[in-house]
Amino acid sequence: MLELRGVVKSFGNLRAVDGVDLSIASNRITGVIGPNGAGKTTLFNLIAGSLTPDAGEIVFAGERIGGLSPDRIFQHGLARTFQIPRPFPRMTVLENTMLVPLRQAGERFWTNWWQPGLVAREEKAGRERATEVLSFCGLGGHLDHLAGTLSGGQQKLLELARVLMIDPKMILLDEPAAGVNPTLMETLVEKILALHAQGVTFLLIEHNMDLVMRICRPIVVMAAGKVIFQGDPDEIQRHPEVLDAYLGHAAA
Ligand SMILES: Nc1ncnc2c1ncn2[C@@H]1O[C@H](COP(=O)(O)OP(=O)(O)OP(=O)(O)O)[C@@H](O)[C@H]1O
Ligand SMILES: [Mg+2]
Repeated sequence: MLELRGVVKSFGNLRAVDGVDLSIASNRITGVIGPNGAGKTTLFNLIAGSLTPDAGEIVFAGERIGGLSPDRIFQHGLARTFQIPRPFPRMTVLENTMLVPLRQAGERFWTNWWQPGLVAREEKAGRERATEVLSFCGLGGHLDHLAGTLSGGQQKLLELARVLMIDPKMILLDEPAAGVNPTLMETLVEKILALHAQGVTFLLIEHNMDLVMRICRPIVVMAAGKVIFQGDPDEIQRHPEVLDAYLGHAAA
C-alpha cells in the first residue's frame, strides 16, 4: 500500500531520515519504534506531505506522493494524527471535526456558484458525518464542549475522529498512547482494532512497547534515521541485539 525507496531528509548536517526503504502492506497495523530522535516523526512528515524529501520516492496506492501538499495526500485517503494534538481550542468538538473537508468537496467548488442549497446540504452532510465519527470515537457526549477543555486522551480521540471524516485508506498515528490514561487507551485500542477489521491500514509510532507488541504486526525499528529491523514481535524478541540497540539508545 505504501512504498518508500531511498528516502532522505536532512536538517543542516543532520540526516534525520537517512535512506529509508520501507514497504507497508495493506490491512496491517505496522508499528514504528525507535529511540527519541530516531527520525520517526520526520518520516511521518515526509509521508504526509508536511516535509518534502531531499531524495527518494514515496508511492501510496500506486501513486507517487513524495512532495505533494498535505491536503492532496489527505484527499488521496492517507491521513495522519500529530504527536501533540492540535485542535482549535476555542471551537467546539463538533466544529473542529466539521472543519475537515469531506472528500471530493473541492472538485465541486464551482457547482456551488449556481446550485443553490448545495452548500447547506454539504454542511448538513458534514455535520452528520462528524456526529457519527465522534460518537464512534466515544465523544458523542462532548459535541458542544470546547476542544480546549478535553483531556489529553480525549484530544487524541478527537484527532482520530477528524481523520475519519474522509474515510481514509491508511492512518498514520504518532504516539497515540502518549499521555493517555489507561481507560481511554483501551478505548483507543478498541477503535484502532475495529477500524483495522473494516480494512483500514495503520502505521503507528509508539514508545509504549506493551501496546506495540500487542497490536502491531510487523514492527519497524528505526535508529539514527535508518530502518535497522523489521519483523513480528516474536522475531524482535528473538533478536536481543535489536532491543539492546533500541533500549540502549532509549536509556541514553
Ligand atoms: N524541523 C526540524 N529542524 C531541525 N531538526 C529537526 C527538525 N525536525 C526534527 N529534527 C531533528 O531530526 C531528528 C529526528 O527527529 P524526529 O522528531 O523525527 O524523531 P522521533 O523519532 O520522532 O523522536 P521522538 O521519539 O522523540 O518523537 C532529531 O535529531 C530532531 O532534533
Ligand atoms: Mg516523534
